[in-house]
Amino acid sequence: MHSISLRRALCLFVVFAGLLETSLAAVLAIDYGSDWIKASLMKPGVPFDVLLNKDSKRKIQSSVAWKRDDRLFGTDAANLASRFPSDSFTSLKLLQGAPYGSKAVSYYTQISTSEITKSARSTVSFKQSDGTEWTAEELIAMQLSYVKQLAESLAGEPVQDVILTVPPFYSQFERDAVADAAEIAGMRTLALINDGTAVAVNYAMTRTFSSTPEYHVIYDAGASSTRATVVSFAAAEDSKTKSPYTQISVLGVGFDRSTGGTDLDRRLRELLIERFITQHRRDIRRDKRGMAKLWKEAGRVKAILSANTEATSTVESLAFDIDFKTKVTRAQFERACVDLRQNFAQPIHDALANAGLTLENISSVILTGGSSRAPMVQAAVKAAVGEERIALNVNADEAAVLGAALHGASLSRQFKTKDIRTTDIATHDIQASYFASTPGSRTINSLLFPKGSHYGTRKTLSFKRKEDFSLWLDYKNDIAPGFPREILEAQITGVAEALGNLTERGAIDPIIKATISLSESGFVSVKEAVAYGEIKDESLTGKLKGLFGGSAEEQQEVLKDREGEESEARETAAPPPKGKKEKGDKKDLSTIPLEVNVVYSTLPPMTAAEKRAARDRLRALDSKEASKQLREEAHNTLEGYLYKLRDLLDDRSDTPFMKCSKPTERQAISQKLTETISWLHEEGETADTTALWGKRGALESLERPIVHRYKEIEAFPEALNNSQKWNWSTRLFLTEARANLTAEAATDVPSKWTSEELDALEIALKEHEVWLNDGVEKQKRTKMNEDPAIETKDMKARAKTLELHLQRLVKRKAPKVKKTPPASKSAGTDGSAGSEPKQTNSDRQAGHDEL
Ligand SMILES: *[C@@H]1O[C@H](CO)[C@@H](O)[C@H](O)[C@H]1NC(C)=O
Ligand SMILES: *[C@@H]1O[C@H](CO)[C@@H](O)[C@H](O)[C@H]1NC(C)=O
Ligand SMILES: *[C@@H]1O[C@H](CO)[C@@H](O)[C@H](O)[C@H]1NC(C)=O
Ligand SMILES: *[C@@H]1O[C@H](CO)[C@@H](O)[C@H](O)[C@H]1NC(C)=O
Ligand SMILES: *[C@@H]1O[C@H](CO)[C@@H](O)[C@H](O)[C@H]1NC(C)=O
Repeated sequence: MHSISLRRALCLFVVFAGLLETSLAAVLAIDYGSDWIKASLMKPGVPFDVLLNKDSKRKIQSSVAWKRDDRLFGTDAANLASRFPSDSFTSLKLLQGAPYGSKAVSYYTQISTSEITKSARSTVSFKQSDGTEWTAEELIAMQLSYVKQLAESLAGEPVQDVILTVPPFYSQFERDAVADAAEIAGMRTLALINDGTAVAVNYAMTRTFSSTPEYHVIYDAGASSTRATVVSFAAAEDSKTKSPYTQISVLGVGFDRSTGGTDLDRRLRELLIERFITQHRRDIRRDKRGMAKLWKEAGRVKAILSANTEATSTVESLAFDIDFKTKVTRAQFERACVDLRQNFAQPIHDALANAGLTLENISSVILTGGSSRAPMVQAAVKAAVGEERIALNVNADEAAVLGAALHGASLSRQFKTKDIRTTDIATHDIQASYFASTPGSRTINSLLFPKGSHYGTRKTLSFKRKEDFSLWLDYKNDIAPGFPREILEAQITGVAEALGNLTERGAIDPIIKATISLSESGFVSVKEAVAYGEIKDESLTGKLKGLFGGSAEEQQEVLKDREGEESEARETAAPPPKGKKEKGDKKDLSTIPLEVNVVYSTLPPMTAAEKRAARDRLRALDSKEASKQLREEAHNTLEGYLYKLRDLLDDRSDTPFMKCSKPTERQAISQKLTETISWLHEEGETADTTALWGKRGALESLERPIVHRYKEIEAFPEALNNSQKWNWSTRLFLTEARANLTAEAATDVPSKWTSEELDALEIALKEHEVWLNDGVEKQKRTKMNEDPAIETKDMKARAKTLELHLQRLVKRKAPKVKKTPPASKSAGTDGSAGSEPKQTNSDRQAGHDEL
C-alpha cells in the first residue's frame, strides 16, 4: 500500500530539472545489509522504485559464492553455502572496517563457516578453498558491482553515482570501509546516509507537517544490530527564497551493535545443535557443511516461529549421514533469547534520552527492519513504548533505500523532488588531542564534536606554538570492542618558518589555527591549518576569533590552548570579521597556510594504490568470467551446429538440403563433420573461443553454397515477378507517352518530356529485358544442385534502377500553360511565329517575362 502511494506521489515530485537532459546521470541508492541488499535507481524516465533482481525479486541476498569456477550472487550464492561452505561468503556487513582482533570478528567466526585470516591492513580477509584470498571490502565490492550491473541494465547506461546507507553508529573506520568498497566496485560515493535518517526522508516524502515540530522514533531492528533514531519533522521556509520545505532533524540516536536477527539465528542454531548432540551424541560443530545447513535451517525455523507457536525442523543427512528432526516451540526459542528482550528496547530509551525528550513527546514509533517482524521484538517494543504509539505503516524493508535514493536525488540537483532538508548528528564524542607546548608535558584533550553535534559543521582550534606539532582526532570513548579510538594524526609542519615570516612583518604573538570538519556523511578530517597574525604592534585581544568563517553553516569555536595566558582574552572575542581585513581598520590580518600531513597509525583507510589493486583484481575476475562465458557460448554453438549438420546429412528424404547439394559436397561436409566431432571430443574443453568459432566457420563455408541455392530457388518467383512488373510498367508508360508526345507536337501543346528522354528510357528497358530474358533462360536449364544462373539480388537491383529511371519521368510536373499578355515586348523579340499569344513552358521563363 505504502509504496504504491509513494510512487504515485513521486510521479508528481520527480520531474527532472532542466534542459541539460544529456548530462543527467542516474543515481543509485544501496542499502547493504547483513542479510539483504536493497537498491533503488533514480533516473529521469525510469519509474522510481526498488531495483528488481534477475528473478524480479525486490531484494538480493547479501552473498557471494563460488561453485568451482563460477561466481554466484544473491540466492544462488546463498544456496551454495551447505555444499561449498568454504567458498560461500555471507553476513559480511558484520566485518565492515573491523580490526582482526575485534569482538565483531570473533563473533563472526561463531556464525560463519568461512575461513578468515588477517589482511595486510590488519582487518579481515577470507580464504577460498583453493587458497585465493579476498578482503571483506573486495567481497562486498563484488556484490555492489553486481547491483551496479543490475542498475545499468535497467538504466541502459553506465551508473556511477551511489549513495549508501549506514547504521548511524558507524565509526569513521566503518564508513571508510563502505566508501572503499563502493570505489573498488567502480562507483563514486555521493554520500553516506544514516539509515534511520533515510527512513525519515522516505516518511516525509508523502506527508505534510506544520511548523510545530512532530517527533517520531524510527526503530530499526536489522540483522546485525538494532537502532532507534528520534527525529523531528516540521514545515519551514527558506530564508532567502521564501519557498517552503520540510525540515528533518535527528535529535537523538540509540543503538545496540550486536542485537539483531543474526543473533536470534545464532541462538536458534545453538538450540538445534544441542538437540542434535543430545539425540545423536556426535559433535556437529566439527562438520562445516552440517553447520552451514543448520544455519540456513535456523533462519527458516525463525521465520516459521514468527507466525506459528511451533515449528518442526527436519534436515536430511545433516551430518554423519544422520537425518535430523526436532520440534521447536516459540516459547523455547524466546526463552533462549530472553536476555535480548531488554537489548531490543534499550535503544529507544537511549535515543529519547539523547534527544532530551520523553515518550510523551513522541507521535509514533515507526518500525522498520526485517527483525521488527519477530514477535518477541514487537513485544519488547510494545512493552517499552505502548502499543498505541507503534506505527506499522512504513514498508519495513524498503523505506531506507527509497529514502536514500530521494536524498541522493536532492544532492545531485538534477531532480526536482519535494524539498526536504535533513540535519543529522554524530553518535560518538570526537575529541582533538595534542601535547601541551612545554616539552614532556601532558596531553590535552578537547571535546571537539560531542555526540549530538551536527553533521556538516567545522570547528577551528587555535594554538600558541613555535614548532611543528601533531593533532590527533580520537573517539573519546570505545566505539566497539577491539576497535581503536584514534582516528588520525595530523602533522602540522612549517610552523617556525611561517611564524618567522609573520613576526618579521611585524606581527605580535602570531598563532596557529586548525580547521576540523565533520562532514555530511559523518567523516572527520583536518581541513586546513594556518599561521595567523595581525601585522600591527597592538594587542591581539578581541581580534582572534573566526577568521575563516562568514558562511552560515560554519560553526566556529576557539578553544583555549590551556598553556597560554592570552587564552582568557580569546573567550571574550568579538564577532568574527568577514574577510581577512577588517573594514575601516588599518590592521593587516595575515594568514600563511601550513602543511598538514595525515597519518593513520591505527586502522588506516585503504590507500589509493590498494583500492586500485583491488579494483584491478575484480576487473580481471570480471573479464575472465566474461571470456569464459564467450567460450562456452562458442562451444555450445559449435556443438549445436554439428548436431544440425548430422541431421541434415542423415535425412534421406526430399529436403532442400538434399535437393540442392551434390554428392561430392555432402561427402566433403560429412568428412569435415566427422573430423570436427572428434576434435571437439578431444580438444573441445580446452580450445579457446577463436578456435571454436574457426571450426564452425570452416564447416559453414561448405554448407553455405547449398543453403544459398535453396534460398535462391525460394526467392526467385517473387524477384521475377518484380522485374516483370517494372518491365511491364515501363513499356506501358513509353507507349502512352510517345502517343501523347506526338499528339502534343501536332497541337503545339508543351510536353513533359522530350523524345530523347523517352528514347533513353527505351534503351534502359531493352537492356534490362535482354539481361532478364537471358538470365531466366539460363536458370531454366540450371539444376537445383547447381549454383543459380541469375541472382535474385541482381534482379532486384536492376529492377530498381529501371524503376528509378521511370519514376523520374513520371513524377515530372506538367508544364504550366500560361498566357502572356498580348502586347508584350518579349513576345515580339522572342522570334516565335505569329501574333498568337505565346505560351511559356516553364515557371522561370514566366517569371522573367514579368520583370
Ligand atoms: C515534551 O513533553 C513534555 C511533557 O508533556 C513537555 O513539558 C515538553 O515541553 C515537551 N517537549 C517538547 C520539545 O515538545
Ligand atoms: C612571507 O609570506 C609571503 C606570502 O605568504 C611572501 O610573499 C613573503 O615573501 C614572505 N616573507 C618572508 C620574509 O618570508
Ligand atoms: C506477382 O504479383 C502479383 C501482383 O502483385 C500477384 O498477384 C502474384 O501472385 C505474384 N506472383 C508471384 C509468383 O509472386
Ligand atoms: C497521356 O495523356 C493523357 C490525356 O492527357 C493523360 O491522361 C495521360 O496521363 C498521359 N500519359 C502519360 C504517360 O503522360
Ligand atoms: C517484358 O515485357 C514485354 C512486353 O512489354 C514482354 O514481351 C517480355 O517478355 C517481357 N520480358 C520479361 C523478361 O518478362
